[in-house]
Amino acid sequence: MSDRYAVIGNPIGFSKSPLIHGTFARMTGQDLVYEAIEAPLGGFSERVDQFRTEGAKGLNITAPFKLDAFAYANELSESADRAGAVNCLKFDGDRIIGENFDGIGLVRDITVNLGVKMAGQRVLMLGAGGAARGALLPFLRQEPSELVLVNRTLSKAVALAEEFAGCGPLIVSGYAELADLAEGYDVVVNATSASLRGEMPPLPGNVFRGAKLAYELAYGKGLTPFLQAARAEGVAKLADGVGMLVEQAAEAFAWWRGVRPSTAQVIAELTVPLS
Ligand code: ATR
Repeated sequence: MSDRYAVIGNPIGFSKSPLIHGTFARMTGQDLVYEAIEAPLGGFSERVDQFRTEGAKGLNITAPFKLDAFAYANELSESADRAGAVNCLKFDGDRIIGENFDGIGLVRDITVNLGVKMAGQRVLMLGAGGAARGALLPFLRQEPSELVLVNRTLSKAVALAEEFAGCGPLIVSGYAELADLAEGYDVVVNATSASLRGEMPPLPGNVFRGAKLAYELAYGKGLTPFLQAARAEGVAKLADGVGMLVEQAAEAFAWWRGVRPSTAQVIAELTVPLS
C-alpha cells in the first residue's frame, strides 16, 4: 500500500499542497498518496489521531492549525521550537515530530531562486505575527548586516526581538520612524496580513529606495498594494510567496522521503504573473 500524507487546514479547498506533492512524487518516483483534510475548528487532534490510526506517515499543516500542531507534537525541531508553530509533522511509531519549514523555504526562495543574497545586507521585515516569527531565525542565520523588524503594534515587535536577542543584529522600529533612517534597505519583506485585505502597511515611500528585492509573503494576489508601492519606487525585483510555498513543500518532502525534488517547474506552473 502507498504511504499516506496530507495537508490539514480549514478551509482547505484552495490548498496547492496536493498538487505540489503529487508532482514531486511523480518527479522522484516515490510511491505515496497525498490528500487534503479539512478538520473542524477545535477538532485538530481528533482528526490527526484518526489519520495516524489509518497508518499515515506525515502531515503538512496550514491555517489555522499551526499552533495546534505545535501542541500535538511530542518532539520539536529547533526551528519549530523557535517559530512557536509547526507546519509539518512526521509520524514514526509513537514519535510525533514537529518541524517548521516556512522560514527556510522563504530564505531558499530569496537566496537561491531569486538570486538575492542576504548575507551582509540590510533587511527590513514588516509584521510581528506568526509569519514574521517563523522567518526571524532563518533570516538571522543568513547574517544580514542588520534586520529591522517593523510593526504597527510596536510592543509585539519588541517582545519578538527580546525572544531572539543574541541571535543576530535585530532592531525594532515603528513605521513612522523608518522615514528617519538614513540608510535604505536591500531586501524588504512584507510578512503582515495586510495584503489579504488589500491594505497597505503605513510605510514611508523612501524605504524602497535602492532596494534589490520586495517580497510579499502572500501568494497569488497579483500586484498587492505593497508590491505596487515597491514598483513605483523602482525596486528591481518583485516576488510573491509562491516560491516560498513550493520550497517549504520540497523541504517537507525531503524530510519525509529522503529525496529532494527540484522546484523550478512547479514554481513556474503555479506562478501568477505580477502585473
Ligand atoms: P500571520 O500568522 O499571518 O503573521 P497574525 O499573527 O495575525 O498573522 O499577524 C498579522 C500581522 O500583520 C501583524 O504583525 C499585524 O500587525 P499588528 O500586530 O499591529 O496587528 C500585521 N498587519 C495586519 N494588517 C496590517 C496593516 N493594515 N498594516 C500594518 N500591519 C498589519
